[in-house]
Amino acid sequence: MKHYDLAGGGSIPALGLGTWKSQPGEVGPVIREAIRIGYRHFDCARAYMNEAEIGEAFKAAIADGDVTREELFVTSKLWNDSHKEADVRPAIEKTIGDLQFDYVDLYLMHWPVALRPGAFFPQSPSDLVSLDEIPLIETWRAMEACQKAGLAKHIGVSNFNAQKIDDLADQAEVPIAANQVEMHPYLAQDDLVSRCAARGVHMTAYSPLGSPDRPDTLRKSGDPDLLAHPVIGGIASKHSVTSAQVLLAWAVNRGTSVIPKSVNPERLKQNFAAALLALDDADVAAIAEIDAGYRYIDGAFWAQEGSPYTVEDLWG
Ligand code: A2P
Repeated sequence: MKHYDLAGGGSIPALGLGTWKSQPGEVGPVIREAIRIGYRHFDCARAYMNEAEIGEAFKAAIADGDVTREELFVTSKLWNDSHKEADVRPAIEKTIGDLQFDYVDLYLMHWPVALRPGAFFPQSPSDLVSLDEIPLIETWRAMEACQKAGLAKHIGVSNFNAQKIDDLADQAEVPIAANQVEMHPYLAQDDLVSRCAARGVHMTAYSPLGSPDRPDTLRKSGDPDLLAHPVIGGIASKHSVTSAQVLLAWAVNRGTSVIPKSVNPERLKQNFAAALLALDDADVAAIAEIDAGYRYIDGAFWAQEGSPYTVEDLWG
């Protein structure tokens, strides 16, 4: 598996397994199977509410000799209700405890959005806390302290736009190792990719297949079906691979890591193999034509009426 270097040393495997939407009872066996296939990079988060089961699976895989802790690269994320300085360390400790590790490889601020403690998702505007009240740098300083204490090898962010990356990078003592955002041919994010590269921030693509199993609350009428796009299908036929493999190869070929979610053994294998697929210049040029700046996960849930957040501020 190809790796990409991270600021501060070390590297991240180019393709990992996403665990958002992997259900309790289902995710443990999937982790075991993915490790057997060869996956070493796993993308987790407190908010996915499955870290304890994932931790059991890692523990069993290590005990059975399938893998060592050092061979794994595991990411987790700080949820929005734990942005206050005093809440960051307990949050990462809870995640590390659930995963049954001593550290995570990468710990990300999940969103540049704060919620009041205990609010999982905003039920009313009073659940949302403005960034004037809890500035991103307060949260980042607390994450830096966790990194220095050895709880995370690297720290980074998720869902940050270029301006937020620049502002944070100007103040950061520990470098921002990664920015994980939605990225696929409908949302190529070329500008963000180059602005992050200029800051030494590695990028990871989430929802690389267009998140076809996203919850109904995140569906909008007229959402396009990325896996069914004829240009992607044509390139897939040309290389005798699947459309999903073309989408994943596109991400890896442009220097971003990618974390497709699957709970199906055949698709796990297929997705893992996609990291080896080379696209040619004609493929890359044809895929570039698809970019429409289209977000499946548009963040509107943070921007309800009365919220201190707007979708425009979020994405810039
Ligand atoms: P499943 O978990 O049943 O394999 P994303 O990573 O963009 O969030 O997309 C995840 C969705 O894409 C899930 O519904 C997953 O279904 C499906 N999926 C994962 N891999 C493939 C593949 N190779 N071909 C088609 N669908 C896939």
